[in-house]
Amino acid sequence: MPERVEPGQSGPHGLWVTLEGGDGSGKTTQARLLEEWLAASGRTVVRTREPGGTEVGSLIRDIVLHHRGDIAPRAEALLYAADRAQHIATLVRPARERGDVVIQDRYLDSSVAYQGAGRVLDAGEIRELSLWAAGGALPDVTVLLDLEPTVARSRLDADDKPFDRLEAERDEFHARVRDAYLTLAAAEPERFLVLDATRPIDELAAAVRQRVERALAR
Ligand code: TYD
Repeated sequence: MPERVEPGQSGPHGLWVTLEGGDGSGKTTQARLLEEWLAASGRTVVRTREPGGTEVGSLIRDIVLHHRGDIAPRAEALLYAADRAQHIATLVRPARERGDVVIQDRYLDSSVAYQGAGRVLDAGEIRELSLWAAGGALPDVTVLLDLEPTVARSRLDADDKPFDRLEAERDEFHARVRDAYLTLAAAEPERFLVLDATRPIDELAAAVRQRVERALAR
């Protein structure tokens, strides 16, 4: 059990923003645009991702995304949690303590959505596992780029890259993931900003900036 949950605990002027959404929803593009905007305004930005933001995380990423053959759902959940524990302890927490802005592609909501709803493990247990791994840390702002799985699939097809283990899952899996994300966002409206990922890239970027600006001014 985590000793406590601590939303909004970035340093004096720091901020921790996570981006969530299905594969192909445009998180990486929005993370890059937000980073560019913040860096141009003189902020120190740490941009990172799960799985894989650390050296240990890269090794875990290789297993969870590229292992050929089955990984038991609970083993998969523990691998993501291990990546998360290392990432928070060695990269995210120190950056927050310095007062940097951390922009992070995926965090514990991914585990609740993919391992919980996707792999049909207990969502509450997955959340507790992640919080335990991360010492109870929760982001200040979480942007959910919401996209219908069939639209996401056609974007990924157009990309021409081979699918990883999760991307290769069927549409019902991704539909459950999407529903889980929307449920999570509805439960924590003060942390989540939900955006329709089919909107133009610059409109989405403006909405993200507005929310981040508000959070930084607090
Ligand atoms: P990645 O290449 O980072 O995908 P994307 O560009 O869509 O973010 O791959 C991450 C994959 O791992 C993605 O399919 C979601 C999955 N994932 C989980 O299943 N659980 C988790 O806790 C995390 C962080 C990711």
